Amino acid sequence: MAKNETDLQIKECGNIRQLIHRLRQNHTLSDQELKELLVTEHTEDLEYLYQSARQICDSFYGKKIYARGLIEFTNYCRNNCYYCGIRRENHKIERYRLSMDDILKCADEGYLLGFRTFVLQGGEDPYYTKEKLGEIVSCLKRKYPNCAVTLSFGEWEPEVYQYWYNCGADRYLLRHETADPLHYGLLHPKEMTLKNRKECLEQLKQTGYQVGAGFMVGSPGQTLDTLIQDLRYLEKLQPHMIGIGPFIPQKDTPFADQPQGTLTLTLRLLAILRLMLPKVLLPATTALGSIHPNGREMGILAGANVVMPNLSPAQARERYVLYDHKIYSGAESAQNRKDLENRMRTIGYELCMERGDSLM
Ligand code: 5AD
Repeated sequence: MAKNETDLQIKECGNIRQLIHRLRQNHTLSDQELKELLVTEHTEDLEYLYQSARQICDSFYGKKIYARGLIEFTNYCRNNCYYCGIRRENHKIERYRLSMDDILKCADEGYLLGFRTFVLQGGEDPYYTKEKLGEIVSCLKRKYPNCAVTLSFGEWEPEVYQYWYNCGADRYLLRHETADPLHYGLLHPKEMTLKNRKECLEQLKQTGYQVGAGFMVGSPGQTLDTLIQDLRYLEKLQPHMIGIGPFIPQKDTPFADQPQGTLTLTLRLLAILRLMLPKVLLPATTALGSIHPNGREMGILAGANVVMPNLSPAQARERYVLYDHKIYSGAESAQNRKDLENRMRTIGYELCMERGDSLM
């Protein structure tokens, strides 16, 4: 009996390793095989999965972890996503907007700290019209022509995306959140649709942006099947960047009492995505750093290669509460570059301040 059990375990281990090998070689697996990787409990197999992902990443990017300076420029939002702390109907948070001057100050500080990518992230705030945000992007690019500007500002008309691109924006982050239309409907009010989200991503790609998609891990209603749909969607879209992090409940949202996404599932997905899209830029996100003191490091050791420390003014950081217990000091703060550098060095990596364009 005992012998059979051991035999079975060895066989399963062998199978999982074969799957990892095949994923590494062919960058794809069947749905059933992907599900097996998502649920396996064998610690050694998981270690092997992370190591394989890490090796592939090293083969393209070496020991460099790219740093981006994040500027959270508004927490006003016209949307009402059930998971998000800055949703329109959250009347408990204090709202803020950064002026052109505030944003330039953040960038000046960031530039001196060595950052060469600025990510302007905000709620969908119509105060920043096409022209207003365009002016901010133009100013940033005029002042810092050797820096990349990334926008993370939600859904707008194709013509607006084009306008900001013409102003000099290089990249655009827009997570698809889930590739299953029914699941999308569970996470968002009905005025928001997956169809529109996908059209925006297509549009951004056609316009010429380096594009980032992504999703939350463990969001309410997520299943193995919806995750497979996410992987298939990303496989097809071939985005330059993929942002994934655990869902973390925020107390003033309809999802306040929903369980948090797990570290282990997030790490598996990072590793699988690295093996599926070997050259993709994959951040170890703030959310991952927020659920475990070494979350970012573990993310990197599972295949991530980007970190996005915060450059926002202190007051803004406190008010940009997408979820509870968000970290914004220590290594998460751009001002503490040394701290982050040390953390990377401890795991054998170096923080890289170059623009870090996608290799795809
Ligand atoms: N937990 C984790 N991530 C969240 N986001 C929004 N709310 C939460 C939350 N409660 C993510 C979304 C969004 C990105 C900017 O932040 O995926 O696209």
